Amino acid sequence: MPPKPLMGEVIQKHDSIGNNLQISQLIVDEGQRFRLNSSVYTDEQLFDLEMTRIFGHSWLFVAHEEMVPQPGNYATSIICQQPVIISRDENYQLHVLFNRCAHRGSVVCREERGHANVFRCPYHGWIFSNNGRLVGAAQRNGYPDDFLEWGLKLEPVPRVEIYRGLIFANLDPNAIPLAERLRFIRGYIDLWCDRSPNGRITLPEGTHRYEFPANWKFQAENGVDGYHGNYVHESFVNLLERSGERSAYDTTQARDAVGSRNFAKGLPFGDGLLERKDGMLGTFDYRNQSSYCQQIEEAYGPERADDIMMQRNIFIFPNLFLFESHIRVIQPTRANKTFIDVYPTYLAGADTEINEARLYEHERFFGPSGFGAPDDIEIFVCSQTGAAANGWLEFSRGMHRETVNELGETIGHSTDEIPQRSLYREWRRLMAEDHSSGGDD
Ligand code: FES
Ligand SMILES: [Fe+2]
Repeated sequence: MPPKPLMGEVIQKHDSIGNNLQISQLIVDEGQRFRLNSSVYTDEQLFDLEMTRIFGHSWLFVAHEEMVPQPGNYATSIICQQPVIISRDENYQLHVLFNRCAHRGSVVCREERGHANVFRCPYHGWIFSNNGRLVGAAQRNGYPDDFLEWGLKLEPVPRVEIYRGLIFANLDPNAIPLAERLRFIRGYIDLWCDRSPNGRITLPEGTHRYEFPANWKFQAENGVDGYHGNYVHESFVNLLERSGERSAYDTTQARDAVGSRNFAKGLPFGDGLLERKDGMLGTFDYRNQSSYCQQIEEAYGPERADDIMMQRNIFIFPNLFLFESHIRVIQPTRANKTFIDVYPTYLAGADTEINEARLYEHERFFGPSGFGAPDDIEIFVCSQTGAAANGWLEFSRGMHRETVNELGETIGHSTDEIPQRSLYREWRRLMAEDHSSGGDD
């Protein structure tokens, strides 16, 4: 008898893309129904195509400016499975360089963050300046005198642009400018940054990195899924009740409320968000913090302050989340393997007690032993396991009641699957685009 598959161990049954379906057939989007073929989570060929056609042409978050504020500061990250170094040189110039030695390909930097004017390759000792230029090599006499003029360097990533401290890079030299890409979501990024009375987010040291055996899109969907909280996070809801913090009735009512301040939104370019007046599970409640609320009101005026105080989960396609308390980056590894980088944030200008309380609340829900994020991860693995039984999945919730506002945003109740539909429409558009020939598949 064959061994029972472990949770998350996906059985590859399909020998061609999407079980012989064309990419355009993997999503059925008609009337009040939106369906997705489960092979989008399991098919390795589709995964490779995602890397080429989506991640290879998208603006991808690499770091926050606050990670590299001073000359000599550096951070490392991954874009589209390729290691990069984000460094600031002595002229304050920012560089995003491939972390690949020009000699025989080793990474030259193995740390998460730090300070260095040069990177010395661990293999044969070649030395690169933090602007990427090769400045020295061990046992130099093995090369001719003009060796350092050969132009050897850590290659720069083709495009780098910054918005509100968020550093994005793009592997496609012909990508549209970042400002154009962010033009619909930009206002929400501003609201997220303006949670700080000075409009500046800072980051404590350290990254929380974890891995799960499931497809990256489960995390992309889940971060803007307002439907699952009452079920996946039931134990947390009950815990709040038992500790006397909030009754389970109040918590579940808050997410059910139909009204002006409880939205899911889908934006062009695959972006989307959840927006709740009464807050999200696991987020710090600012409404009881009168001096902080007053600070925000003084900084921005009452109307904008009210908007800033809404809680949001913001998804920037394909792999960046701005959550209330942190930046989260999804790093796909294989069709059934993903790792996540979480960077908790502080609000510059807010009282230390506020920042500490935010971080505490963050850790309680999203931390390694938190009450929330581990439950979500278990669901990703359940979903990956289920998706191996190939078939059609429903993303139709709320399609019959969604509307489009004057900004071109599709809008509906916070439990509706609007952001997920937005994500998959963009997914299909990019997956159908063959960037090498300019034609459709
Ligand atoms: S691979 Fe870097 S010095 Fe040889
Ligand atoms: Fe969750």
